[in-house]
Formats: sequence, structure tokens, C-alpha cells
Amino acid sequence: MSRAVAVARSNIALVKYWGTREASLNLPAVGSLSLTLDGLETRTEVRWDDEAHDRFILNGAAMTGTPLARVSAVLDLVRARAGHACRARVESANNFPSAAGLASSASGFAALALAASRAAGLRLGELELSALARRGSGSAARSIYGGFVVMDRGVRNDGVDAVARPLETNLDVRMVVAVCGEGIKSTLSTDGMRHTAETSAYYQSWVTSHPQDLEMARQAVEQGDLQVLGTVMEHSCLKMHAAALAARPGILYWSGATVDGFHLVRALRGNGTDVWFTNDAGPHVKALCRPEDAERVSQALSRVAGVTRVLVCRPGMGAELIEG
Ligand code: PMV
Repeated sequence: MSRAVAVARSNIALVKYWGTREASLNLPAVGSLSLTLDGLETRTEVRWDDEAHDRFILNGAAMTGTPLARVSAVLDLVRARAGHACRARVESANNFPSAAGLASSASGFAALALAASRAAGLRLGELELSALARRGSGSAARSIYGGFVVMDRGVRNDGVDAVARPLETNLDVRMVVAVCGEGIKSTLSTDGMRHTAETSAYYQSWVTSHPQDLEMARQAVEQGDLQVLGTVMEHSCLKMHAAALAARPGILYWSGATVDGFHLVRALRGNGTDVWFTNDAGPHVKALCRPEDAERVSQALSRVAGVTRVLVCRPGMGAELIEG
């Protein structure tokens, strides 16, 4: 029976994905644009065997329920494609907090798509891997690639055009990640986006106004314009949260430290530093800045009450096969 090991890195959306247009294929209602980060990694080993059930071990603990079901759903697609019915043992380890808004599902499903398909003897191209990873988690489609990545919403019903691709740029940046409390339980992004779409009066305007943000960000990346990119990034974050906050009941991902972090980033900017914030389905603050400013931004964020640690991330590489 065959095995493979893959590593993929997390990514942070600068222009957010929030909402699906079709749930069973996990087709996004909007595109997105992200930066893959060095240092926030998932390493996943997949071993196809003749056990009766799939097993999923995350950071040493055997998972059941929804986490196992989501992994099995991706394995089902690989089984169908490879034409076999074997079960798999999936062992995954993150070097950062899981399910707390540091995008462990992005790196996790990207690593799973690569390791599971290779272990099954399939040689999928990057676009196919991106579409496979998307079935586990929308943001995972982007972690197949390194650096700046754009994810297309796609228009087809079969989802073959809802895939990510890398962007060319000379822009060098750092993402400073301020961890605002570890192990905090938030509404899972899948549930949060569904609830927003179903109950928020602002959801439609989020969807309608999204393409122009995405286009502006894409051009800013290609032209190496950090100021335009940072401005649209902060706007996309606040607009996504505005739609989620307006759901019934409202979804509030921020802690006090999150909001203090936002104010700090704006104060640094007021003093002339090119730095902008973003934040996802959890409390952590991520600040985008130039490499030469990263240490100062990091030190300032580490002094915010409630920030437990700060990581300075360089742009990271795409998913890699380590063994198999
Ligand atoms: O890919 P999911 O289902 O974990 O959703 C990602 C949602 C956000 O992180 C908030 C935004 C994004 O585009 O990554």
C-alpha cells in the first residue's frame, strides 16, 4: 500500500472569501486574493491501507465527527478518481494553533490534496490540486501556490474554473501575525459564512461590491503598489466583518486585543509607516508591511494587552511533496 508526505503553508486572504454560491462543490460566491506565509505549516502523511475506516490524527489526537468527515470527503474524491476503495490513515501536524483563525484548514487541506493524490498514484496538475483542495476548504485552493495568489470565483456549475493561480510581482512584504489568545473557540468559517448569507442584510452588497476590490488588489500586486494593496485589504476585512456582524444573531470574531491591534496599526500608519491590518474568523490581527518595518511593527503589536505572541512571516512557497 502506498504512502506520501506533503507540506503546505497557511495563507492569509487580503481580499476575503466569505460565502458560497454552491455548497456541495464548495463553489465560492466571490473570488479572493491571498499571501501564502512561510513558517505556518501543516505536514500531512497519507497511507492508503486495508483498514475498515479512514482515520485522521491531528497533532497526535485521533479526530472523529466533523473534522474526520471533512477529511473523508476529500479522500472520497481521490478514491473515485484513482478507482480504488482503500481507506486511509491521515496523520497531520500543524506548527501553529489549529482552528483559531490562523488558517489551519488552508494549509491542512492543501497538504491533504497533494499527499492523498500522490499516495494513490495520481499525478494531478496544480489547477486540479487547487480544485481538490477547495472541496475541503475554500481557502485551501490558494495554498497550493506560493506568494501572492488569486482565486477565481468561476462561473461554471462543475467548478473547474473555481481555482487559484499565482500572481507575478516584485513586491516584497511581511505579514506580522499577532496571536490574540490561543485555543479560543470561534464560529467555524463554514458556519459563519452560511449564517451571514442566510441572515445578514449586508451580504448582498458584500457580494456585489467585491469584484472591484479584487480587481484593484490584483492590479496593485502586479504593479507592486503596497499602499493601494494595503488600503483595499483593510477595507475588504472590515466589509467582511460588517456583513458578519449584521447577521442575526451577529457573528463577532474580535476580542478587545483585536480592536486594540487595529487601532495600533492605524496609529503606526498615522506616524508614516506603511502598515495595514486584516483579520479572519478568529481574534488574531495580521499586519501587512514592508520588510524593513516588520521588526518595529512586531514589537509594537507585542505590547498590546492580550497579544500572546507575534510572528513575522515572509511570503511562503506552495505545497510540496516531501516523500512519495
Ligand atoms: O476556507 P475557509 O472555509 O476556512 O474560509 C476562509 C474564510 C476567511 O479566512 C475568513 C477568508 C479567506 O478568504 O481566507
